[in-house]
Amino acid sequence: MLSKTIEKVLNDQIRIESESSQIYLAMACWAEVKGLEGIAGFMYAQSDEERDHMLKFVKFVNERGGHAHISDLNEPNVKFKSFKEMFEKLLEHEIFVSESINNLVDISLQEKDYATHNFLQWYVAEQIEEEAMARTILDKINLIGDDKGGLYLFDRDIQQLTISSASNDNV
Ligand code: FEO
Repeated sequence: MLSKTIEKVLNDQIRIESESSQIYLAMACWAEVKGLEGIAGFMYAQSDEERDHMLKFVKFVNERGGHAHISDLNEPNVKFKSFKEMFEKLLEHEIFVSESINNLVDISLQEKDYATHNFLQWYVAEQIEEEAMARTILDKINLIGDDKGGLYLFDRDIQQLTISSASNDNV
């Protein structure tokens, strides 16, 4: 059974994961209308992943005797100066999510809720991966600079990243 404190903080995280999904959906739209098909596909996949993260929390809260709260959401930013800025925002956002997950881990220990603590370990590992992927992408973007041919190749290569990260999820 979840304590009221744990139920509240898990519900706060449900909102954060839902907002993450919306943020990446807005990024997918921005890239798609700019003709960056590969980047758009990557962002659509990120948006779907965040929805899965949200649902995992929803089911955990409901199964542990709590009641998952589905709240309204803040509207995401829909415009970016460049695709580089967009990926910088993605990394910033993932760092924010990691801090939030770490904070949840802390609270679960304070509350001596070891089941929740154990459940959160999946998210701790996932955040390490997501931050690492965002940093790798930004390194590539910095290598490309303003080169249009480089952007074309980057847009093509990121499709591969989307496909391989989707197949990793199925393992
Ligand atoms: Fe669910 Fe990318 O954090």
